[in-house]
Amino acid sequence: MDISYQEYNKKSDIHGTVLYPATMIAPAQKDILLQYVDTQMGTKIIDPFYGSGTSLYEVANISRKVQIYGCDINPFAKLITQTKLDGTSKNINNSINQLIKRLNSDMNFEIHHFENIEKWYRQDVIKTLSKIRAAINLEKDNLDRKFFWVIFSNLVRKFSNTRSSTYKLHMKPSDKIDNINSEKIEEHYIKSLQEGKKFYCNNYNYKELAKNDSIQYLDVFNDDFFDILITSPPYGDNHTTVPYGQFSSLVLFWINADDLDLEGWELENYSIIDSKSLGGHLRNKALTEEEYKIVEPYISNINEDKVKKVKSFMRDYFDFLYQAIRITSGHLILTLGNRTVDKILIDLTRITKDVFNIKGLEFINEYSREIQRKRTPRVIKVDNTEISSMNNEYVIVYKKTKDRLKVY
Ligand SMILES: C[S@@+](CC[C@H](N)C(=O)[O-])C[C@H]1O[C@@H](n2cnc3c(N)ncnc32)[C@H](O)[C@@H]1O
Repeated sequence: MDISYQEYNKKSDIHGTVLYPATMIAPAQKDILLQYVDTQMGTKIIDPFYGSGTSLYEVANISRKVQIYGCDINPFAKLITQTKLDGTSKNINNSINQLIKRLNSDMNFEIHHFENIEKWYRQDVIKTLSKIRAAINLEKDNLDRKFFWVIFSNLVRKFSNTRSSTYKLHMKPSDKIDNINSEKIEEHYIKSLQEGKKFYCNNYNYKELAKNDSIQYLDVFNDDFFDILITSPPYGDNHTTVPYGQFSSLVLFWINADDLDLEGWELENYSIIDSKSLGGHLRNKALTEEEYKIVEPYISNINEDKVKKVKSFMRDYFDFLYQAIRITSGHLILTLGNRTVDKILIDLTRITKDVFNIKGLEFINEYSREIQRKRTPRVIKVDNTEISSMNNEYVIVYKKTKDRLKVY
């Protein structure tokens, strides 16, 4: 099956209405899911790293009988996924008209503030975003207000002083900052709401979307609870791969905290979500001998400091894999990328397959596609040597077949 989807244009569906890093290709996930989801039975499915909810939204559109569970540590991911699955109210047109009226009026509003806001936004941009924020806050319908926030998140990024070429917070050069046209913000926002609303009509009755650390979250489920696990886990610690938390931080500072699922620590600083994510902090628990053997070929030639980080990520990743195997009774479908550290490819796909094979899972299928890169160059320079960055993505499908299983 060809899953390259070279022609896929995100703008043609719900996934193109909001920017989130390293998302899955929706039609590829749908094609794969169609092969494994039982549309007649109430399949229980989980995505433990749902991000912007690509796989969960796609499965919801395959069958209304699917029971959906998911988890992500990032509150912005939860807001997006929940809104995609919930959709808007039936009165969304009226809600948008009311919002436009408020924006066209001389409404009183507070100028929003958070630490360092002046670094990331020009004063006139802060004023306009504050007005839109206040207008959104006045929307009484919870579904419509959340839809307004999701679309607002694009403005928070587009009109900020941070570059669009990277997911990290990185100041634009001053001439680019001077060129930001704040007069266009409201117009841009209203247009995006009008264009985006048609996609948010799902109203899906899912089971549970958690905002939590997956390793903790998965622990509570009984063995074999889920029929299918589908996910794309991070492929390295967020700090040195994709900083989902840093990317989301400005958005999280702008959105009313009452509309976010927060544990309390998420707004402490710009990168705290990345530090709490998979491999983000060093753990006391070491790799076992068996685990070490699996990763040794990749870490034996990299710098000592970086080895610590890779091992720390692998510690979390192995724990995730064991939980994934334990709680799933049927198919495990993982979309994986392989990163490079010190010019050495860390073959996460091979590592994952090794674990699945050791644990006795049955190999069902493998697909690969080239990643169309926009924010990371295909070739990056390390110590003045050009090496290829992560350019391929793999989807592996394994099955837990009771008689083959070793103790997990
Ligand atoms: C590759 S992205 C998933 C993207 C998603 N498939 C999509 O299409 O949008 C990986 C996700 O894992 C989340 N994550 C990282 N560490 C986590 C952890 N310990 N617990 C839960 N989620 C975590 C990140 O916040 C990020 O959203």
